[in-house]
Amino acid sequence: MPGENGKGIRLSCPIARAAAHGRKVYAVENSAYCSAMQTHSRRSEAELMTIVPFYGKTKYIELGKAFCPIYYLNKSEIVMLDTGTGVIEGLPEWLQAQGLRVRAIFCSHLHPDHIANNEPIYRKFGSEIFLSEEDLSYLLENGNPFSEKDIKQWQAGRWTAAAGRRDLPYPVTLLPSQDQTVDLDGTPMRILYTPGHSPCHYCIVTPDDVCYVGDLILSSEILETSKMPYFWRYVPGMRSIYRMRNARYSRYLIAHKGTAAKEEWEDLVDRNIHKELSLYDQLRSLVSDGMDCEELLERFEDLLRISPTVRKREYFRESVRDRIQAMESIGEVEIKEGKLYRIRNGHEKERTAP
Ligand SMILES: [Fe+2]
Repeated sequence: MPGENGKGIRLSCPIARAAAHGRKVYAVENSAYCSAMQTHSRRSEAELMTIVPFYGKTKYIELGKAFCPIYYLNKSEIVMLDTGTGVIEGLPEWLQAQGLRVRAIFCSHLHPDHIANNEPIYRKFGSEIFLSEEDLSYLLENGNPFSEKDIKQWQAGRWTAAAGRRDLPYPVTLLPSQDQTVDLDGTPMRILYTPGHSPCHYCIVTPDDVCYVGDLILSSEILETSKMPYFWRYVPGMRSIYRMRNARYSRYLIAHKGTAAKEEWEDLVDRNIHKELSLYDQLRSLVSDGMDCEELLERFEDLLRISPTVRKREYFRESVRDRIQAMESIGEVEIKEGKLYRIRNGHEKERTAP
């Protein structure tokens, strides 16, 4: 039977399928945050999941478009680091069938594609859920799906911030915006404050010296196709990534399906840094005297061939406006009455890492 491209090959990638059908293809969007809705329906069966050994007592489960690390406190109790990109029916029961109880969940940040199964896991096991107080207050105020019901609506593309609730459907233990170690029944979990992708993103280090970096960086696979800025806030994001570039751990797990050994880490981080700096340079190159910020934003969207859907996303637009502010604070542009003006000192300023 012929595949979708008429040549007997089934194209799993939505971009490739669109191209095969002659439809307009836009730049690939960042991360599973954007694509979870497209892919989740194809793999919602808990019975297809496996626990993948990684390093010592640290393993991971593929949940939707993510690798969710788990750390074994003992033979039957685990800690989960994030809980998947979409609600997976039967996940708590499947974990129980593996002889496991989820003692605690640590959230790298509170985007819906990282906390999707928090509520059903809490209902089943009464797990203690650790998350950032700063992320929580920002996202409660600005709207974010937290409950199982809201996340299902979000997966289906029917959720709106206005319809979302302004409280949490489960109790939590709030963490401050700083590095810290959480003692979990005698097991130390190291939390690293790495803001930028969200107001208070965390990397989490297990006692095996495995560093789960959440969405601090993109995996090699996603990096090849991603065209959009990954940091919501540019300067703190760059500070965090430079900090983690120089941190050495035995192994690394990246949220959206990536792993790295110690010797691979620096190269992967450098490629992520290069991508962010290139985007910043591209944005800066579009500035002309007298242009207003919204016009620059639109030109940048055109340059990156951002799809109409993503153009409406406030997260993306905020991240670009933030880079315009960064240009002003660094002294590369001046903003007068909403208009941009390049600052020239004989030649372009040398760019330096923040
Ligand atoms: Fe994220």
